[in-house]
Amino acid sequence: MIVKLNLIAAACENMGIGKNNNLPWRLKTEMEFFTRMTTKTEDINKKNVVIMGRRTWDCIPKKFKPLNNRINIVLSRSDLDLTNFTDVYGFKSLEECIERLEEEEFQKLYENVWVIGGSHIYKESMESDNFYRLYLTKILKDFDCDTFFPKLPDNLKQVSDPEVPDGIQNEKGIEFVYNVYQNPTFQN
Ligand SMILES: NC(=O)c1ccc[n+]([C@@H]2O[C@H](COP(=O)([O-])OP(=O)(O)OC[C@H]3O[C@@H](n4cnc5c(N)ncnc54)[C@H](OP(=O)(O)O)[C@@H]3O)[C@@H](O)[C@H]2O)c1
Repeated sequence: MIVKLNLIAAACENMGIGKNNNLPWRLKTEMEFFTRMTTKTEDINKKNVVIMGRRTWDCIPKKFKPLNNRINIVLSRSDLDLTNFTDVYGFKSLEECIERLEEEEFQKLYENVWVIGGSHIYKESMESDNFYRLYLTKILKDFDCDTFFPKLPDNLKQVSDPEVPDGIQNEKGIEFVYNVYQNPTFQN
């Protein structure tokens, strides 16, 4: 079975996603959306996979690490010591990670695969044949950022997902919209 990569990100007007190894904003409802989308499974015996770059892993506060009820995968070209954590795997490349996720034994353990950043991992994922969907929260405000979401492929089609709220959301005066895009090479 082909591994389908679902990307999930929040970006502001200038497509910024991060500042000083952190998120440039605090949006509780958006964070709850991220947690719900990346955690929910139909099969209660399975978990989802979250794939992230080493810097995003480093950004997660100690008390939330690893992201709970999810199989955490960290990409790094170095040898990371992840032995203190359960359900956390390290891979040296996205390719190597996908190869492992394709293994039948591993497929029994997980339901959906979510790529949760950062910048280069999003880019490489969108260039991959395994790229399925992008869940992009567009924050309708400018923030000072030093990390940016890569250029979106031109051919993406906007789709709807019943799990995703419609329309403009508002938290403490900051407006944002949940968008879902699909790679057109996938019919469904
Ligand atoms: N708004 C959002 O939705 C969102 C989501 C995620 C992150 N962020 C923000 O983005 C920033 C972090 O993102 P980032 O782009 O700077 O870093 P990142 O992608 O999280 O991590 C970069 C690191 O990942 C490893 N890496 C990247 N590509 C790899 C590959 N193909 N194979 C193996 N390893 C690879 C390398 O680790 P080594 O150096 O160890 O080799 C690289 O230095 C933070 O500010 C964070 O808060 C925002």
